[in-house]
Amino acid sequence: MRKKIAILGSTGSVGCQVLDIIDKFPNQFEVLLLSASKVSEKLINQIKRFKPKYVYLKEYANLDGVKVLSGREGIKETASLYADLFVNAVSGIDGVEFTYHLLQNGKTLATANKEAIVCLGEILGEKFKEIIPLDSEHSAIYQTLENINFEYVKNIYLTSSGGPFLNKDLKEFKNITVEEALNHPKWSMGRKITIDSATLLNKGLEVIEAHYLFNIPYENLKVVIHPQSIIHGLVELIDGNICAHLSDTDMRFPISYALFYPERKDVGLKKLNLFEIQKLEFFEPDTKKFPLLKLAIEIGKKGGAYPIVLTVADEIAVNKFLEGKIGFLDIYKVIDETLNKASFEKPKSLEDILYIIEKTKQIVGGIVC
Ligand SMILES: NC(=O)c1ccc[n+]([C@@H]2O[C@H](COP(=O)([O-])OP(=O)(O)OC[C@H]3O[C@@H](n4cnc5c(N)ncnc54)[C@H](OP(=O)(O)O)[C@@H]3O)[C@@H](O)[C@H]2O)c1
Repeated sequence: MRKKIAILGSTGSVGCQVLDIIDKFPNQFEVLLLSASKVSEKLINQIKRFKPKYVYLKEYANLDGVKVLSGREGIKETASLYADLFVNAVSGIDGVEFTYHLLQNGKTLATANKEAIVCLGEILGEKFKEIIPLDSEHSAIYQTLENINFEYVKNIYLTSSGGPFLNKDLKEFKNITVEEALNHPKWSMGRKITIDSATLLNKGLEVIEAHYLFNIPYENLKVVIHPQSIIHGLVELIDGNICAHLSDTDMRFPISYALFYPERKDVGLKKLNLFEIQKLEFFEPDTKKFPLLKLAIEIGKKGGAYPIVLTVADEIAVNKFLEGKIGFLDIYKVIDETLNKASFEKPKSLEDILYIIEKTKQIVGGIVC
């Protein structure tokens, strides 16, 4: 029997890499649903190639030969379909409702959408145990923890390449262009996560994601700069042993792990040649240069509505930067000012979270138009 897969965000960087692997194993996978925000040539080509029964679109559009689901009702319908695996590769806050309904319906979910984990952590934390992480660092830790009794875990280390500005002088940060910030040294990703990787806020979101996914206190979560990006995660045990996960820098490693889970398959990716690795370096992050990393961890510790406010403010600020409306350093300023202005009760439901998201959008709108 072929595994039925539903891919949310199929036209994006992660989504296309999921389909890249599925395409190589037509006898093992069947695509039940594709999804994107809008109709595009890429989506049309994917529909022709993979012949899904359903397509989810943010806004309804007629498409020949498939049942189109759309809007908020469509998210609920999507989450009630029968699939062996749902992949959430939607970018940003739009991934929140998908993850919520999929987990509430007990579906098997592999997710790259860290924003949903960060926003839903306060209300759905318990259900996160069922998730197969797709973020490379979290997949690395998940794989490392496979054979470890969690009571022996002392610390979890998330590695970061340091992004394109690791060695840039702070004095030059004010002149950073969109093009420079999009030029990540190790990973080719969607635009939003690439900018988050340049400010290191991405790593801050990943710390919050790890806190909720692995149910581990912030004190035991460490970030280490590792420019070679060969080690993706480390687990330190109480006896001082440290177990590490290594692979080439390619998202298809965590993706193939999730697609074939609990089995493993050689999908033909470039393997690490240990004899070619000249050095492995580890540094402490410079939070003067990258204050968003420190801020995100503080916000994670505060919990409540704060991680949601952070996520929304960042998404809007990054879009404004990409549109050329604010500078690189303004991303921090917009987020910080939003966090100072926002005051919300701890969310108890999805509706509370959606309310916080909408109200935060209004606050950010008043700061940056
Ligand atoms: N890229 C990576 O290597 C990587 C690594 C780790 C984690 N992640 C995480 O994975 C997620 C996706 O990242 P990405 O880089 O793949 O983003 P991306 O390239 O920008 O792709 C985003 C995808 O989401 C779709 N989408 C956006 N809004 C939607 C909506 N309301 N309903 C349905 N689909 C929607 C987009 O459709 P359109 O094409 O129509 O806009 C596109 O297919 C993010 O949370 C990111 O942090 C990515």
